[in-house]
Amino acid sequence: MKIDVLLGLQWGDEGKGKIVDVLAPKYNIVTRFQGGPNAGHTLKFSGKKFVLHTVPSGIFTDGAINVIGNGVVLDPGIFKSEIEAIASENPEITKCLKIAKRANLILPTHRILDAANEAAKGKSKIGSTLKGIGPAYTDKISRNGLRVGDILSPEFKQRFDALTARHLREIESLGFKDFSLEEFTKGWFEGIECLKQFEFVDSEMFINEKLDENKSVLAEGAQGTMLDIDFGSYPFVTSSNTICAGACTGMGVAPQKIGEVYGIFKAYCTRVGAGPFPTELFDETGEELRSKGGEFGATTGRPRRTGWLDLVELKYSCMINGVTQLIVTKSDVMNGFDTVKACVAYEINGKQTMSMPFDSSEEAKPVYKEFKGWKTDISNAKTEKELPKELVDYLAFIANFVKVPIKMISVGPDRDATIVR
Ligand code: GDP
Ligand code: IMO
Ligand code: MG
Repeated sequence: MKIDVLLGLQWGDEGKGKIVDVLAPKYNIVTRFQGGPNAGHTLKFSGKKFVLHTVPSGIFTDGAINVIGNGVVLDPGIFKSEIEAIASENPEITKCLKIAKRANLILPTHRILDAANEAAKGKSKIGSTLKGIGPAYTDKISRNGLRVGDILSPEFKQRFDALTARHLREIESLGFKDFSLEEFTKGWFEGIECLKQFEFVDSEMFINEKLDENKSVLAEGAQGTMLDIDFGSYPFVTSSNTICAGACTGMGVAPQKIGEVYGIFKAYCTRVGAGPFPTELFDETGEELRSKGGEFGATTGRPRRTGWLDLVELKYSCMINGVTQLIVTKSDVMNGFDTVKACVAYEINGKQTMSMPFDSSEEAKPVYKEFKGWKTDISNAKTEKELPKELVDYLAFIANFVKVPIKMISVGPDRDATIVR
């Protein structure tokens, strides 16, 4: 069997959690391969709502095994709270969740370092979720990190103390004083005990063995392509490879094992945190998208920036990820506009281009195509036939522009509000 990968094609929050929850019953295994608790994936079903940060979104699917892959960075304190919330719905959680030994740990001081780094950047700050993601991946790459498997070592506490001391020196050198280490540390060590209830695996062995046994695997990305460390709007990005290639390194599977690549995008765009956003709207339309779409961060509660769909960006993301099918979410939110727009080229220094600017300070002016809007509430639609012609035309233009078919249309946050083509 091959492994199917599901990714966000914009700046995150495309609705990955919802769609993984919808697709999960088709799969035996659901994995996360990168990112950490900076992610907030919202699932709604049977009148209930869950926001997942570290745990894959297949956790509420009967019979599915969920795996936190080696590419994830895990904060034990946040993990414990998440497990407690999930256990109310899935008491079997310790049996159906496995964790890669090789996943790196986020220490309490990583969170403080994140805040110290952002404070030092002043006006040019990234707008990080401050969950310690950047500093944890920095330690991983500089070969100083602690990994999940290390918590079983008799030397774990000693290594934790040594790394914490090193971080504290760094925090001091940044002149950062506004923190309380105790606030995070107690919950962190309780989280370490919570982690010990789970089976630790070599995710590369576990997943490849399952593929050999003909088991189906769905890999769930976090963040979005424009937040990728290599191909996003650097430096306003996260610290991992959010793209399809990240699934290979974040789980230990070879590129030829990748099957379908599901690319998820919103029918408009949002972004949380700083950085370029060519189609951003600062007017009433932007406000309307934010309020109707409930565009407030699932992890931090921050208002999301909103704007029209950016097809230059979407085409780029389809290319980088090798997307084989598209899934569009939130077109229900665009109901009621006389016209809607999509960016079909950028104008940079007076020249039109389809390239992503290298320099994040370069201003890309969107060139828009206008579409007739629709005034039909589609939130209860169950089939494509119930969709207004204007929306169908809008979607057909998008699919043709990026040369990838749209196979699923999400019309609301609930598991059931999904139209499969
Ligand atoms: P993720 O990070 O990609 O999983 O997305 P988030 O959960 O952060 O944000 C997506 C938000 O949109 C959540 O509040 C979802 O419940 C909601 N959502 C997902 N799909 C749809 C949809 O098709 N229509 C509407 N109205 N809301 C949706
Ligand atoms: P999901 O998986 C949206 C953004 C932050 C910030 C930048 C770096 O829910 O789609 P970090 O905490 O990684 O240092 O932040 O990336 N960011 C996200 N934006 N959705 C996410 O995850 C995000 N994870 C990080 O707002 O701009
Ligand atoms: Mg989110």
